[in-house]
Amino acid sequence: MANWVKVAAVTDCPEGELKGVGADGVRIVLANVEGDICALLDQCSHEDYPLSDGELDGREVVCMYHGARFDACSGARKTLPAIRPVRAFPVEIRDGDVYVDVE
Ligand code: FES
Repeated sequence: MANWVKVAAVTDCPEGELKGVGADGVRIVLANVEGDICALLDQCSHEDYPLSDGELDGREVVCMYHGARFDACSGARKTLPAIRPVRAFPVEIRDGDVYVDVE
């Protein structure tokens, strides 16, 4: 069953940047990719450090710890040293706020 949680205002998520938020005890990293806001688990699949410490390069999240890259919207792994994807969450914008389904 869906569990939509309001995590931020759209204005808190500038284009080209990452933002770490919490949603029902789940750490989420929001990424504004050219105006579209995407949400991934804020935990690198390499050694579990927060992806929100890194940066957004185009549509890829770059982990600042060892340089792994992930698609910011699908969570697909793009480069080593990560070998697994990161969980992606559905996102909806409602009345200027960002909601994430953390079911
Ligand atoms: S913890 Fe992200 S690349 Fe190592």
